[in-house]
Amino acid sequence: MPAERLDKLISRLGYCTRNELRKHLDLVTVDGEPAKKADQKVEHRQVRWEGEPLDPDPLWVLLHKPAGYTCSTKDPGELVFDLLPERWMFRRPQLSTVGRLDKDSSGVLLLTDDGQALHRLTSPKSGIDKVYEVTLALPATARDCERLAAGGLMLEDETKPLLPCEVELVGEHNVIMVLHEGRYHQVKRMWAALGNEVVRLHRSRFGKWRVDDLEPGEYKLLEPEI
Ligand code: URA
Repeated sequence: MPAERLDKLISRLGYCTRNELRKHLDLVTVDGEPAKKADQKVEHRQVRWEGEPLDPDPLWVLLHKPAGYTCSTKDPGELVFDLLPERWMFRRPQLSTVGRLDKDSSGVLLLTDDGQALHRLTSPKSGIDKVYEVTLALPATARDCERLAAGGLMLEDETKPLLPCEVELVGEHNVIMVLHEGRYHQVKRMWAALGNEVVRLHRSRFGKWRVDDLEPGEYKLLEPEI
């Protein structure tokens, strides 16, 4: 990674502003030595903040989103960013969720500040598999599952029919769905179109990512996706 000014690096990773760094220079070491000047040229790997390596750059995070948290930086109520270190809110480029889960949904949520990768992963062309465990208010039938799986359904206010997907009936009120696209409130709208209602929605997989090893609200860092 190329060398850059220490104050620029520290502020873009969200630790503090460039001005604040002048007061906090004692918290920073470069190659194990106290930092000398806020504008000295450094590489990311040389720097420690309070003795700890800096957060990765770019940043990739896998969060087990609990129900009740919003995928936004400023809505009222609890935000997924409240579950992460506060400084990540101040990173530039900004840390964003890779797509969204509704406030009342839980499960796999990826976040990154890598704009190109974000675009790639959220593009309609990405075709990334998303697996949802769905609980319904009314019993689901094999016929319902076949209708949704076949694709072709036109949701309200949309111009393109839904793609085929996989829908498995696993209990009277429970299905597992594998979607290959990601539309607004897609699972809820699909079941609403058949006169049913989703009462619980958990995303158990997004592409290759799962959260089986994370409790709701826990996160872990991932290796960057090139
Ligand atoms: N479909 C929905 O309806 N909600 C989600 O959170 C994800 C997929």
